[in-house]
Amino acid sequence: MTETVAFPQSRSCPYHPPQGYRPWRDARPLSRATFYDGRRVWVVTGHAEARALLSDDRLSSDRDNEAFPMPSARFEGVRIRSAALIGVDDPEHNVQRRMLIPSFSVKRTAALRPWIQRTVDTLIDDMVAKGSSAELVGAFALPVPSMVICGLLGVPYEDHEFFQEQSRRLLRGPLPSDVETARERLDGYLRDLIERKRATPGEGLLDELVQERVESGELDVEELVSLAAVLLIAGHETTANMISLGVFTLLRHPERLAELRADPALMPAAVEELMRFLSIADGMLRVATQDIEIGGEVIRKDDGVLFPVSVINRDESVYAAPDTLDWRRSARHHVAFGFGIHQCLGQNLARAELEIALGTLFARLPGLRLAAPAEEIPFKPGDTIQGMVELPVAW
Ligand code: HEM
Repeated sequence: MTETVAFPQSRSCPYHPPQGYRPWRDARPLSRATFYDGRRVWVVTGHAEARALLSDDRLSSDRDNEAFPMPSARFEGVRIRSAALIGVDDPEHNVQRRMLIPSFSVKRTAALRPWIQRTVDTLIDDMVAKGSSAELVGAFALPVPSMVICGLLGVPYEDHEFFQEQSRRLLRGPLPSDVETARERLDGYLRDLIERKRATPGEGLLDELVQERVESGELDVEELVSLAAVLLIAGHETTANMISLGVFTLLRHPERLAELRADPALMPAAVEELMRFLSIADGMLRVATQDIEIGGEVIRKDDGVLFPVSVINRDESVYAAPDTLDWRRSARHHVAFGFGIHQCLGQNLARAELEIALGTLFARLPGLRLAAPAEEIPFKPGDTIQGMVELPVAW
């Protein structure tokens, strides 16, 4: 057991875990972290232990539980209004998830590929038409997944500035009131949209849920609002960060990029390895509802438990030379999409978007390069999803 380490910490390089997490790597499988309010929580850093605990129903995701650990003061404001899916336990979680699984299956996602490809092509056409440089987060990384999730849900893309802003405040607003207000605004917007869909049904997953589940009384409007908010935010923020950080990382690893360009069939393996290497959702949280013995320790009821994804995904006993980017390793068992009942619902969609977005961008813009010194390009702080704030590029 190591000295306790402060969480969260910011990365000093956008694609490596914070240097301050080093003591956790040296003391697998369990350590301790201290949060902003002085609270100490367990930290699970062993890959096997993380997968065992993430599938253990004695650990809860329920934010309504007073003992649920909050890593930052700004999230306290939303504690009492738990998010659907990601913030609820079975059996309620299972009921919500079962309604959505068919829409995110491998088959349904594969059918969306041609449309994702057209979306990506159009955005690149627009960038090229405007000149030979761009700010890639605004011109590409954010619009690709936003357009895709809007189309899938039936949310008008014209409203993207509004919901991207609320999502930014929810995930990064410095004050509890920012988080609370953003959540209220987004809920209000989605409530109106759902009411409009009840009056005039359109095409999209939300329209389907209104017609099949709300009108039958199986799902109430407030529950659908919460589900829609989770899908909308999770569906665009995460993938946008993966695209921006993925492009930055590839441009900083020219040999790996050359391998990919020489053999595009490597792309699915490269996306998996980038997911492992970048670990952008770097800190899943749970609370214990019973005592659990693991790794020679006892996690007590009401103890908080943290899973630092970037550290787990660099467990040397599973990945040889884990700090190296390597398309030929098997990165498959990473936990970048989580594990257990909450494992990412949108992972097939995210993989399709990443393969198409990264593959097409580097194929169409062979001269793509950073348009500012790498060390001057701003990236996100440690208390949110990791990614680039801006990404100036030229070609
Ligand atoms: C590369 C992009 C993505 C990353 C890194 C990512 C990561 C994650 C992680 C780590 C979790 C588990 C959280 C936990 O156990 O506490 C999760 C859950 C989830 N993700 Fe993703 N995600 C991505 C893309 C998407 C997309 C495109 C969608 C589309 C709708 C999505 C929807 C969800 C949902 C709904 C959950 C909650 C599932 C549940 O609780 O059953 N994600 N994601």
